[in-house]
Amino acid sequence: MESSSQRIDVQQSRESVTNSNAVNGFIGSVGNTPLIYLETLSELTGCKIYGKAEFQNPGGSVKDRAAVSILQDAEKKGRIKPGGTVVEGTAGNTGIGLAHVCRARGYKCVIFMPNTQSQEKINLLRMLGAEVYPVPAVPYEDPLNYNHQAKEYAEKLENAIWTDQFDNTANAYAHYISTGPEIWEQTKGEIDGFVCATGTGGTLAGVGKYLKERSNGRTQIWLADPSGSVLYEYVTSGGNLIERSGSSVTEGIGQGRVTSNLGTFVNDLTGALHIPDEKAISMLYQLLDTEGLYVGSSSAVNVVAAVELAQKLGKGSKVVTILCDGAYRYQSRLFSKKWLESNGLGHAIPDSLKKYAVLD
Ligand SMILES: Cc1ncc(COP(=O)(O)O)c(C=O)c1O
Repeated sequence: MESSSQRIDVQQSRESVTNSNAVNGFIGSVGNTPLIYLETLSELTGCKIYGKAEFQNPGGSVKDRAAVSILQDAEKKGRIKPGGTVVEGTAGNTGIGLAHVCRARGYKCVIFMPNTQSQEKINLLRMLGAEVYPVPAVPYEDPLNYNHQAKEYAEKLENAIWTDQFDNTANAYAHYISTGPEIWEQTKGEIDGFVCATGTGGTLAGVGKYLKERSNGRTQIWLADPSGSVLYEYVTSGGNLIERSGSSVTEGIGQGRVTSNLGTFVNDLTGALHIPDEKAISMLYQLLDTEGLYVGSSSAVNVVAAVELAQKLGKGSKVVTILCDGAYRYQSRLFSKKWLESNGLGHAIPDSLKKYAVLD
């Protein structure tokens, strides 16, 4: 990765708007999200727990940063010309970020996604002008996996790129030069631990690398991992890659392999925490009830992990995690009694919070 003093064009485009403090379009408004002090959880643990409000990015998720960085990198390298087509395999949020950037830059956007993803995300992609192909959710080793289908589709077209979010390290780089430095500045360098779950691994690797370097190794970087992912075992066993088993209702996180993005940092992780769905669903409702935050399930996994990490590091410790996106994209599932019960999660919501599950 390049040096942290080099700002990505996201930052430069902000500064290039003349005679005002305005930012330049969609691309200029990505990043610089608030860091939220989570008061109830901090008081409960005697620590300081913070969530980086990535749901405030203009496309609504942490993946806007990766989408901008990957496309700017492709443009710089001449891999795509005006009027070209951008093809990606994505569980949703990267596709949404890319669809926005494609509109802003005049590209066509084609998305392949596993057919297990929420209807809200599919609808939104189509509203943003993307062509969407939901395909069977099969393992990476299967040629019908959504990533391989996206790659093949792009290879058959003129002036098209497969953006390859999992193994294109322009993804982690976005976090190394923007999310990481923002967190460092917002905490004034007082950060004992950072933890988050991974999909591509871009956020964890990019932020982790920056914070570890900037703190001279003082800040611990931990992985949070849901059921159905192999990475908890990989990290805690020192590199043992097991068969994927089990599952999770969370979307956008959990992985069956070490991607190139995660690979840039995986050996420098301090440790890993396994976070089951029950804990995440309970936290999702608690965050709504006590902090007024309406976040998706990967954010809830992250906050459960931040609390566990803070407890491990001891009273007074300062821990940061990522609030990846809002619950709007999943509400027909996460706030439906029927859906939660059919996924064995009805019992996960404390009785006093069941009032929020207002959908049938
Ligand atoms: C909701 C959500 N949370 C977390 C992540 C994981 O981020 P990363 O791909 O940087 O590991 C994603 C990735 O798509 C996501 O959509």
